[in-house]
Amino acid sequence: MYKNKTPVIIGCDHAAYHLKEKIKACIIENGVDIEDVGTDSEDSVDYTDFGIKVASAVSEGKYERGILLCGTGIGMSMVANRFQHVRAALCSGLFAAIMSRRHNDSNILVIGGRVTGEALAFAMLEAWIETPFEGGRHQLRIEKFDRIEQIKR
Ligand code: RB5
Repeated sequence: MYKNKTPVIIGCDHAAYHLKEKIKACIIENGVDIEDVGTDSEDSVDYTDFGIKVASAVSEGKYERGILLCGTGIGMSMVANRFQHVRAALCSGLFAAIMSRRHNDSNILVIGGRVTGEALAFAMLEAWIETPFEGGRHQLRIEKFDRIEQIKR
């Protein structure tokens, strides 16, 4: 059972539908509430639409944490990171999943269903859910995301 029970919102496209279903089941087994915004089959869809649903919910504070999956994870991370307050981390290894929480306070985990196998996805998921943000100097760094226009001048 995960200790962190923060509710999660999840979305995917057709390329990661099966992995999304497995991740959802794993989250439910671990006693965490989850909202699934689809997709619900292998029929071709635009990953953008599902990325927008999850990222907007996180951006607006309806959920603290989200999970997005597509074939490579690249499209989903591109969409999600356009939203204010979203820090989406595309991870294909355990170290990155842990560090995305410790140093970047990532609030959306992105996984590529055509890149990452089930066992690694489960390991990254648990680490990402349970690892706290370290704050301190890392807080100051992520706060600069909201001041990019000022800083670049
Ligand atoms: C779908 O074919 C694929 O383009 C999508 O899942 C994703 O990998 C995009 O980045």
